[in-house]
Amino acid sequence: MAGLIPQSFINDLLDRTDIVDVIDARVPLKKAGRSYKARCPFHEEKTPSFNVVPDKQFYHCFGCQASGTALTFLMEYDRLDFVEAVETLARLAGVDVPREADRGPPPEDHSRLYEVLEKAEKVYRRQLRTAEHAVAYLKQRGVTGVVARDFALGYAPEGWHTIEETFRNDPTVKQADLLAAGLLINNEKGNVYDRFRDRILFPIRDVRGRVIGFGGRIMGEGDGPKYLNSPETPVFHKGRELYGLYEARNALRRIEQLIVVEGYMDVVALSQAGVANSVASLGTSATTEHFQKLYRYCEEVVCCFDGDAAGRRAAWKALENALPTLTDGRQLKFMFLPEGEDPDSLVRKEGRGAFLERVNDAAPAIEYLFSELASGLDVRQLDAQARLASLVLPYIEQVPNGVLKQLMQNRLTQMTGLAGAPKPAPRQRSVRPVAADGGLTPLTRRLLGHVLRVPEALQTVDADLRAAVARHADSDLFAEVVQYVDGNPGADRSELVGRWAGSPLAAEIGRLAEQPHTLPEAAVVRELAEGLQSYVSGKAREARRQLLSELKEAPSADKLKALRTLQASGHPARDSGSNQS
Ligand code: UTP
Ligand code: MN
Repeated sequence: MAGLIPQSFINDLLDRTDIVDVIDARVPLKKAGRSYKARCPFHEEKTPSFNVVPDKQFYHCFGCQASGTALTFLMEYDRLDFVEAVETLARLAGVDVPREADRGPPPEDHSRLYEVLEKAEKVYRRQLRTAEHAVAYLKQRGVTGVVARDFALGYAPEGWHTIEETFRNDPTVKQADLLAAGLLINNEKGNVYDRFRDRILFPIRDVRGRVIGFGGRIMGEGDGPKYLNSPETPVFHKGRELYGLYEARNALRRIEQLIVVEGYMDVVALSQAGVANSVASLGTSATTEHFQKLYRYCEEVVCCFDGDAAGRRAAWKALENALPTLTDGRQLKFMFLPEGEDPDSLVRKEGRGAFLERVNDAAPAIEYLFSELASGLDVRQLDAQARLASLVLPYIEQVPNGVLKQLMQNRLTQMTGLAGAPKPAPRQRSVRPVAADGGLTPLTRRLLGHVLRVPEALQTVDADLRAAVARHADSDLFAEVVQYVDGNPGADRSELVGRWAGSPLAAEIGRLAEQPHTLPEAAVVRELAEGLQSYVSGKAREARRQLLSELKEAPSADKLKALRTLQASGHPARDSGSNQS
């Protein structure tokens, strides 16, 4: 074996993993308070006694006493050995498993940092209760006690040594840990003092609810930046964490969608307004790692941006960072806010409903990509088409193989006529007779003739194929006839003619039924089998084309799923735009 897996890597992997995701993908979980429940996968039972506790990142069955972490779950449930289980989690997290020579560096243990951060959070929360001006500030910004509790808001008092003085008599808290956790600062002169002073504090928690850092807002005018954040520490990586994700998971049974905003106050205000599914990227553009994390919790991410030039720049950066994470089924949408507003101000001004309407109207980010790159180009001109292709292709390359990539390629082809353009499909109208004929094509007219003249021939066709045709009975008269004849093998010509009397097909049926049949029966049987097969694949192609064009207009997870099902059912995955009907 290729060396040991470093313990620090395993710890870090477990930090990044959410046991709820791992188990829920195998045993669907139901939320019950702060934990999740299911019928135990390790023993037979009727009522669920299997519990998954996200805060603690373990599972426990009160029935059979099975318990453990995400790793042990994989080992037991997927029957993996330890290394395989680590590799599975690493794949989920999108990281490689490092190996070390036998004497690796000692494993890092961050538990003392988590402890002091949690203790500091309690101190700050307690301080808020007695800090009248801080409470007044929050009230004036519309933050209620409930939301302040949910987000564990606190207050760092004035003065330079609150933290040190508070922990002076606590032998478990070491100054070195307070420094390493970013709570204290040690300046060049060797003076040690509190980082956060006279600020409202927003604890930043990881998905397990552990405090990993703080953001501190100044109230009114004062020295220093409006927000002061914890520095990067061994447990706090700004580019990886999302403010509010833990709180969103706590508030919601199921997260269908996450709204990414910029600021602490945006998340808090949205939650206050009843929009619990927002998270903040802490003032920076969302990184690729952020998107990877977001898409572990839901398939749809909506990013909010300011309506100004800076907002557009931020949107572009986010788009670039998101592209590599957009595998099938995942959606990214952008919404631009009116100038001068942020989600906090907007939701207070317009209310929840209007804000959600804006979220609902958010446009697919891919549309944004095309419109930005094409802006200023006259794509009717050849050189502009070439330019557009050269601008777009590098972005398409970033997208993982799948439907979205295909859609982007198709879109580019449509706009430029470049790069393996499928020939424009012949207009269906020219092939398909007018509706007075009951929507018959040359193929279905011929097949219908066979069915009417030799109904019994239909019974020779494979039953699955007949069923596949019958599935279109709601939308297509030919399929309706096939379904009927299939279900009523004794039906004769006159019954069929009578049954469809008054429908657009009636005249056609009458005429076809009267025509003498000239083909030998064996040929009818063969034609019918082949014809129905090509009818079914034609329908599948049509459905695919339809879905693809709907997806271009308005991508949705459901449509992508339907498309994948169509593809999985063995029909050609290429979009052969030039096929006959
Ligand atoms: P904004 O300046 O938009 O502030 O910064 P805001 O969130 O609307 O805050 P309020 O409404 O004035 O209280 C957005 C985010 O950028 C980061 C913070 O994460 C902030 O929430 N930021 C901003 C900083 O880290 N430092 C700053 O000095 C300013
Ligand atoms: Mn604001």
